[in-house]
Amino acid sequence: GEIPKRYFVIGFARSPLTTPKFRETLRLEVKQTGVSVAGKRWKEFCSSVTYVQGLYDDPKSYRKLKSLIENKEKEWKSKPIRVFYLATPPSLFSVIPEILGKLNLVKERKRTRVVIEKPFGYDLESAKKLNKKLTKYLDESQIFRIDHYLAKENVQNIIALRFANAFLEPIWNRQYIDHIQITVAESIGVENRGKYYDLSGALRDMVQNHLLQMLCLVAMEPPVSLKADEIRNKKLEILEAIRPIPKELVKDYAVRGQYGPGEIKGKRVPGYREESNVNPNSNTETFVALKLYVDNWRWHGVPFYLRTGKRLPMKISEVSIQFKPVPHRAFPPTATENWMPNRLILRIQPEEGILFYFQAKRPGPHMYLIPVNMHFLYEETFGRTPPEAYETIIYDVIYGGATLFMRKDQVEEAWRVIMPILEVWESHPPDNFPNYPAGTWGPPEADLLLAKDGRAWFPPSVLEEK
Ligand code: BG6
Repeated sequence: GEIPKRYFVIGFARSPLTTPKFRETLRLEVKQTGVSVAGKRWKEFCSSVTYVQGLYDDPKSYRKLKSLIENKEKEWKSKPIRVFYLATPPSLFSVIPEILGKLNLVKERKRTRVVIEKPFGYDLESAKKLNKKLTKYLDESQIFRIDHYLAKENVQNIIALRFANAFLEPIWNRQYIDHIQITVAESIGVENRGKYYDLSGALRDMVQNHLLQMLCLVAMEPPVSLKADEIRNKKLEILEAIRPIPKELVKDYAVRGQYGPGEIKGKRVPGYREESNVNPNSNTETFVALKLYVDNWRWHGVPFYLRTGKRLPMKISEVSIQFKPVPHRAFPPTATENWMPNRLILRIQPEEGILFYFQAKRPGPHMYLIPVNMHFLYEETFGRTPPEAYETIIYDVIYGGATLFMRKDQVEEAWRVIMPILEVWESHPPDNFPNYPAGTWGPPEADLLLAKDGRAWFPPSVLEEK
């Protein structure tokens, strides 16, 4: 219900499809997501969709696209917003904007936008090159680099929780916080994306973007306003403050893994090297665990542990803020067998919500403490689960909100953070892959990374509650 009254969607691709065929493909795809395609609204949407067949790198192919756009604008007698959404292979990210530029399709800055999907570059150098090429034809304000994690409701809610409530700010720092864990676990494998994933790996696919962006939101300083550049500046400061990992210490800060065959939810699943379009000797990592430090006044000495992986036991994304224990335990040891310092959990998905663990006295004549939790769950409070991140993203592109999109310098700085790890891993291929069976929480070295610091990964909060 948020789409503008007048709109027109053009699909442009190589496949030899007709408009009716394209509409039918769309209908089937959308139906699979559970959205109703039976009623009037779908019919209306469908009749606004057209298909143009063409080659992405051939300017002639774009003529038809251009005249369709211009005719529509004449018919509407207005100058609507034009969104060019590049859901294409990354090799075309610089090719298409150049042609659009030469054909004057993106000339009017205020009303033309180009959306770029991940991955943005392959490393720091290629990201810089791509940025340079893009800004030849586009103004930075026209480029919408997607990181769909930023549009997840509970990721956006980190800003609301931190800056719309006064009680957290005084304790949101190294004095009170022991460490922070960010887990983005997936139970799926690489599915049909082997070709892309085998060249990318978890560090590029998830850490460079989603996990680092979440870290930024947790760690950033309070913004003056919610203006796009203000939020992006504050996040950039954090990326800049992340302590560079010296190459010789990468092994102490980063762990990689690759799944072998295993079992998930009672079902046998193949190992990564047996997936389609994956090199049977692949050394691509499907799991990463990292320790990072943010060297600024607020966070000095507080470790941020990040982990992500495919074919882990379940899909769960959460941020856990572990507070320090009380300075003095006045309670007798018999009261504190289950002692657990306070922990705040921001559960991004599934069952989106926020949980806070604290100690309470178990009812009865004796003083006996147990950890209990207070929770806020989206579904319970708002009666519905939050919208898909992509709905929010598309809405923001149309209406021009850039806060949730990555600015040029943010992307480059995020690459800077992971470059030493990428380089060391590339020059030292692993000799133990696959090193975790599908359906487990990654290689034992990931547990060791925290154990060395006297800590452990927290079990997912959804399991702890049950
Ligand atoms: C994408 C990655 O950006 O995020 C995928 O390329 C990953 O590999 C996906 O599966 C996870 O997104 P979500 O929204 O399902 O957590």
